[in-house]
Amino acid sequence: MSVKKDGNLHTSVLLDETIESLDICASKKNIVVDCTLWLAGHASEVIKKMKSWDIFIGFDADERNLKIAKQKLKHIQTQTKSSPEVVLVHSNFLHLRKELKRHNIETITAIYYDLGVSSVHFDETDRGFSFRSDGPLDMRFDTTKWQTAADALNYYEEKKLFEILRNYGEEPHARKIAARIITARKKQKFHTTWDLSDFLENEINTHIKTKMRVFQALRIEVNKELENLNSSLTQALELLSPKWIIAVISFHSLEDRIAKQVFKRETRDCICTAPICNCGHKKSLKILTKKPIIPTDIEQKENSRSRSAKLRIAEKL
Ligand SMILES: C[S@@+](CC[C@H](N)C(=O)[O-])C[C@H]1O[C@@H](n2cnc3c(N)ncnc32)[C@H](O)[C@@H]1O
Repeated sequence: MSVKKDGNLHTSVLLDETIESLDICASKKNIVVDCTLWLAGHASEVIKKMKSWDIFIGFDADERNLKIAKQKLKHIQTQTKSSPEVVLVHSNFLHLRKELKRHNIETITAIYYDLGVSSVHFDETDRGFSFRSDGPLDMRFDTTKWQTAADALNYYEEKKLFEILRNYGEEPHARKIAARIITARKKQKFHTTWDLSDFLENEINTHIKTKMRVFQALRIEVNKELENLNSSLTQALELLSPKWIIAVISFHSLEDRIAKQVFKRETRDCICTAPICNCGHKKSLKILTKKPIIPTDIEQKENSRSRSAKLRIAEKL
């Protein structure tokens, strides 16, 4: 197992397991997509295995992260004898099909997702992902999009806030918190991470888990993480060529459930609920990981962030 640290910025999770699964093959033209590039930890290893006739495409919704990845990949390319064509896309992976089409790519041979937030997102106070430091209550991966966490807290209806806290945070006090947010924001709107953190401490309880769940729920809502993943995986499976691989690393049960469900759906011939089937859906996938792969004990010890990681792999039929 190799643990790859990038300074103190980020340690790639399940690196060897993911790269091996992609089955990058020297005798064919590989077109590989990394949907969540960040520090290009996985991407660097992929590129080293590719040839000059291959194409690598990397997506990141966060422009700052993409710029850092670009520098890093340039360096890797100069060190690699037969570097592939590298295309970097500042976009949400929701727009996978559209962006690939824009680059005249209609089929791909491997695609992978390493989901979630990078540790740097939590460390950057101006991004508002963490309650541990004070900053604007933002939480957008893509800061060119309009809706921030503060917008959601200050303007969503109570029912919607309750549903977000319950569904995305799995927060037991979701109803009470949503009701108290409505009362609190009439007096003063939420602007910063500590406005929300202090509110939770004063109005609900002092448990750190409550804060974690509320912050997670807002982040998932602001970035539409679950809807986007569902749509992107569906597009990915359409774009993938037969016999090739899709891999998904997730860090919480909600994301993992989506990967599991989308994969499972494509292993069946029929997905309709009508008594007489007319959906025309054809089985198109073979799941290669009956149980998800998890990091080894050594990896979990060396990188505590890896402890919740799960890798699911499937092959297009
Ligand atoms: C965990 S990091 C990936 C780390 C990378 N595999 C490495 O080893 O360096 C996740 C990255 O995905 C990006 N991201 C999250 N959701 C995204 C989405 N829907 N579309 C595109 N990028 C996304 C984040 O901005 C972040 O840079």
